[in-house]
Amino acid sequence: MTYSFKKAAAAIVASSALLLAACGGAEEGSSTGSTESSEDKKVLNVGTEATFAPFEFMDKGEVSGFDVDLLNAAAEEAGYEVDIQNTGWDAMLAGLQSGQVDIGMSGITITDERKETYDFSVPYFESVTMIAYKKGADIASAEDLKGKKVGVQNGTTGQFAAESVIGENNKAISKYETAALMFQALQSGDVEAVVTDIAVAVEYAKSNPDAGVETITDDQFVPEYYGIAFPKNSEYKADFDKALNALYENGTYAEIYEKWFNEEPDMEALKQAAQ
Ligand code: ARG
Repeated sequence: MTYSFKKAAAAIVASSALLLAACGGAEEGSSTGSTESSEDKKVLNVGTEATFAPFEFMDKGEVSGFDVDLLNAAAEEAGYEVDIQNTGWDAMLAGLQSGQVDIGMSGITITDERKETYDFSVPYFESVTMIAYKKGADIASAEDLKGKKVGVQNGTTGQFAAESVIGENNKAISKYETAALMFQALQSGDVEAVVTDIAVAVEYAKSNPDAGVETITDDQFVPEYYGIAFPKNSEYKADFDKALNALYENGTYAEIYEKWFNEEPDMEALKQAAQ
């Protein structure tokens, strides 16, 4: 209760500040890639890397997944339209920096380092690093990655986690542009293990039963939280924070969560993470 009130109040304060800024002559949307839709709703450009099921993946030519449902609901709540494009990870991040991309929605972990370059919404998903390997590989803990060929998606927390175990610039780490290429390398035997996010590793193992993939996590990997990413000082962050908090309160978030994960979300953990 206290939590949502505080958040809502903060969002109102933040949006009034934006309003004042707009009245002060700041040109609305001048530095973003957004356009106006037919109903005069602003259309925001969203970038993603859509080989990351169940968060974002291509389904009959459309980006689909938990992130897509959640972002659509948040945009609806906040009064925007979103145009979600499978830009790829690096282009999404570059677009956020240049302002061509208004929103990055891609299972992006909120990290202190990234916060220097991007703004993030309140946390919307708790994750942790997971190691996936082919049955028979001798891996029972993170330490067992030492001496093995390891695949990661370039520039992700999976890469940083692998590096924390076996060392930065370790030649044994192969970096792939997409999560799909990383899993392909595991499949073909180019790497013996991959380091990625828990829900994605579990989903891969489940939807590729013939691949013989097993998964473990390790206490040395700490929980991390996904956030919607914006360019630094984005005018949209406050609106989306407010919208996410509304979806947390009115049950829409839980509905979307249950649709994709077949279980109830831990709302308390999310709220804690937002402190
Ligand atoms: N959560 C991880 C990170 O932020 C991985 C995200 C990868 N997302 C994707 N759509 N491929 O670094």
